[in-house]
Amino acid sequence: MRILILGSGGREHTLAWKMSQSPLCDSLFVAPGNSGTGQVATNIEIDPTNFEAVIGFVKSEAIDMVVVGPEAPLVHGIHDAIKSNKALKNVAVIGPAKAAAELEGSKAFAKAFMNRHNIPTAAYDVFTVETLENGLQFLSTLKPPYVLKADGLAAGKGVLIIDNLNEAQAVLKDMLENQTFGEASRTVVIEEFLSGIELSCFVLTDGKSYKILPMAKDYKRIGEGDTGLNTGGMGAVSPVPFVDEVFFNKVESRIVRPTIAGLQKDQLPYVGVVFIGLIKVKDDPFVIEYNVRFGDPETEVVVPRIKTDLVELFVSLNEGRLKDYQLEIDERTSATVMMVSGGYPGHYQNGKEISGLDDVAGVHLFHAGAIKKNDKTVTNGGRVMAVSAFGENHKVATKKIYDQIDTIKFDGRYYRKDIGFDL
Ligand code: AMP
Ligand code: GLY
Repeated sequence: MRILILGSGGREHTLAWKMSQSPLCDSLFVAPGNSGTGQVATNIEIDPTNFEAVIGFVKSEAIDMVVVGPEAPLVHGIHDAIKSNKALKNVAVIGPAKAAAELEGSKAFAKAFMNRHNIPTAAYDVFTVETLENGLQFLSTLKPPYVLKADGLAAGKGVLIIDNLNEAQAVLKDMLENQTFGEASRTVVIEEFLSGIELSCFVLTDGKSYKILPMAKDYKRIGEGDTGLNTGGMGAVSPVPFVDEVFFNKVESRIVRPTIAGLQKDQLPYVGVVFIGLIKVKDDPFVIEYNVRFGDPETEVVVPRIKTDLVELFVSLNEGRLKDYQLEIDERTSATVMMVSGGYPGHYQNGKEISGLDDVAGVHLFHAGAIKKNDKTVTNGGRVMAVSAFGENHKVATKKIYDQIDTIKFDGRYYRKDIGFDL
């Protein structure tokens, strides 16, 4: 098969690394890719949200399968754009249609979906500039902290958690009246705050049946001890030790099954992965959010644990035969630590030379914001390099990483030294 992956992060390097090992994979392209994908596939300079360019490439290169990494192309309808092109209707697109991608594209849509299908989530209400007064009033009925979410895509920055009522009311006003998050905050979701520990659950579905991939835990904050600003993710571990059989069964019966059944009832076509952001409150799971793609850096720990052929898995998704696919999972723990640019998640500089990449042992590198420039590998993003390892538990796996990580050097480099600290 001829396969195109859209995206350029650690997630896409991991998918490319795994798919390139499949005997079903004849040619593999990544658009635009990074220095890591360039080792296992051919990078092409196409922006994944430029649908005309993507479709042109799919046609000219006779691509059989498109795997969509990031959310933006899905929310903007890349699935529909490819499938509605007569010449391309048989191309497999791994990633849902636009209508279903609203689960990530609109938090209000996702909350209404959960309510409709009795899926446990935080209590909420939705406001626009016309109902601002009601929103201010609603905030005053809640207990702090206050959770305010821009409805639309906001590059992971649209969720604000505020301790003080006056401040929360001022921020709501600002979001709605001044559109602090642009179009994304025309509508704002206000939620009850849930207190607990978060985890990530990837569910593969062909629209009929589903398979739950190993759970992972992501470390979102920039600072050690889960402090400071939110990032795209500073590290991850899989499996998650606190997910026992009882909790897993609750997740499956209360959340996964009603989600997949809800997609069918609402006639939302879905071929791909539903990434459910969960929070464990006391002993019960609640949904924090849906994403319609693989998570990053969770992919860097979940995909290496899949022992079976990922291309075959995606083919079975596309052909509606997921039920027959025999998924085999590596029992070991996988961990990853993300090396980031100095200043991230705020302002940072690109173009710093990265050294030591060939000198590490016992760990696997998934490149993220890193590209080849002349003969050098240089930084090209906030999250630069995911350093991953296996171990019999998360302590062993993270120790292997921390023993090696300082071999990789670039100006301003930062990473958290405590991934897995709370497990
Ligand atoms: P989201 O973009 O919806 O994942 O939100 C970003 C982060 O905000 C989540 O990972 C949580 O840490 C936090 N968060 C979102 N909603 C809530 C909530 N209702 N209660 C507590 N924390 C939340
Ligand atoms: N690691 C969280 C995400 O991919 O959204």
